Amino acid sequence: MSRTRLPLVAALALVAGTSGTALLAAPAGAAVASVPCTVDYKIQSQWDTGFTAAVTITNNAAAKSSWSLKWSYAGDQRVTNGWSSKITQSGAAVTATNESYNGALANGGSVSFGFNGSYSGTNSVPATFTLDGVTCNVDDGGGSGGGTGGGTGGGTGGGTGGGTGGGGTGNRVDNPYVGAKGYVNPEWSALAAAEPGGSRIADQSTAVWLDRIAAIDGVNGGMGLRAHLDEALKQKGSGDLVVQLVIYDLPGRDCAALASNGELGPDDIDKYKSQYIDPIAAILSDAKYAGLRIATVIEPDSLPNLVTNAGGTNSTTAACVTMKSNGNYEKGVSYALDKLGAIPNVYNYIDAGHHGWLGWDSNLGPAVQEFAKVATTNGASVNDVTGFIVNTANYSPTKEPNFKVTDTVNGQTVRQSKWVDWNQYVDEQSYAVALRDKLVAAGFDSGLGMLIDTSRNGWGGSARPAGPGPLTSVDDYVNGSRVDRRIHAGNWCNQSGAGLGARPTAAPAAGIDAYVWVKPPGESDGSSSAVSNDEGKGFDRMCDPTYGGNARNGNNPTGALSNAPLAGHWFSAQFRQLMQNAYPPLP
Ligand code: GLC
Repeated sequence: MSRTRLPLVAALALVAGTSGTALLAAPAGAAVASVPCTVDYKIQSQWDTGFTAAVTITNNAAAKSSWSLKWSYAGDQRVTNGWSSKITQSGAAVTATNESYNGALANGGSVSFGFNGSYSGTNSVPATFTLDGVTCNVDDGGGSGGGTGGGTGGGTGGGTGGGTGGGGTGNRVDNPYVGAKGYVNPEWSALAAAEPGGSRIADQSTAVWLDRIAAIDGVNGGMGLRAHLDEALKQKGSGDLVVQLVIYDLPGRDCAALASNGELGPDDIDKYKSQYIDPIAAILSDAKYAGLRIATVIEPDSLPNLVTNAGGTNSTTAACVTMKSNGNYEKGVSYALDKLGAIPNVYNYIDAGHHGWLGWDSNLGPAVQEFAKVATTNGASVNDVTGFIVNTANYSPTKEPNFKVTDTVNGQTVRQSKWVDWNQYVDEQSYAVALRDKLVAAGFDSGLGMLIDTSRNGWGGSARPAGPGPLTSVDDYVNGSRVDRRIHAGNWCNQSGAGLGARPTAAPAAGIDAYVWVKPPGESDGSSSAVSNDEGKGFDRMCDPTYGGNARNGNNPTGALSNAPLAGHWFSAQFRQLMQNAYPPLP
């Protein structure tokens, strides 16, 4: 896979080339613009005595620089702790006000926060919300496009809030990860367990990569899709279970890099449909698997590559130009969304790069437009999209604990440091939450959930800074603060010094469906020298530790580990380093 970012000069060129050309889909709230604000209050999970709720406010009135949302409970609910807002409670009356970093609420903009609470008896959703004293309507979870949905949240027995509503979504729950186990891939688990200390993580859930047509039946006697789903049914027992599949075989795959070029040529769209997506859809539709929750990660890197690497920038590649002009990435992704989205227990998550790739406004705006376009053409609709995933197979930290993008040093913004390079984000969680808001404003479902691949973004170990860096300059401060120890945020292959990140976790924050391990730790990103093979894997010099880099990493050294095998193959030395540098550390 390629993890490409766009240097500032190119980013500016890109925005100049595209500004004003694409039209956004109407915001979800447009149909009810006369209502000054909408509030979506979802009970994400609930148990005997407690619950977790996520609240999204959409402002349909004039832009605000601060906000205060109030509601009253009918029962004895008590907010115990919250995030992304300051919450106080007096009797039944609750007030949530903005944090310093999320007070700005544009016309049409949204902001989300979450909290845990306790209750006894009935945990009903509050009937009325006021934003700065003005009554909002309540978004009952009916989804965008005016769906009325059914009841509101208040799922019982660990269930989730209202379904996503709208056509074609069947009985999907709002967040498939809540209340469910994760599928443990026995093949990955065995490789992990065979490493010294590997049993500490061998029971974690990782994704199954369908990285070629042959993977559907199983490569070299390995497990195929049916074998995984049959095993998933066993692991599921009488509870709920999520199995994660990576859909990854587009024509002309990995157009900005070489390590994961695939088996299909740029024009093989018909083969992609009939020999790859259709057989997968046929298996997933088998009634015997209807009780599984199947989360799909749709085509890592593909749409981001169309946004930043397909023309007019110094990161352009001829292969990406081809894939943009023949339209086969867009046709393939739409087709996958449509076919897989028609299966009621499938939850599609589209890949959205990472903050070090799309985190400049000049890239993110066009990316949101690209996602909206692909999700609404060739038979696909926003109802086929449960959410988006960020950081797939990448190394960007979930949170930078020691500095924020809004920090300044001697009056200078950290955005002008060499590391941040004018990006709008410094970590994946802030990127994911902001991207989610932009996607909802562009017409995606207001219940959209984000995933963050945390499999290798831990950055623990002895090199991890314990606190902020010195205030001598923006560069000293950022370099001393950042837990991401890469040489450059555009480096993506087998990064030296990386560690396992947060273990898979359901609903870790408002708007985030889960932290997931999509890239199975220990599987290589690409070989560090050329290796002949029949898997369509090329040699990308970003995996070569002796290479001096290219435009996409600011011509820096690659920071890749040496002696790496082909992409997807087991890389024991990397697995051991990931365990050693895990953050949180392993027991
Ligand atoms: C890379 C490889 C692919 C593998 C995946 C997960 O993208 O190209 O073959 O399945 O990583 O390790």
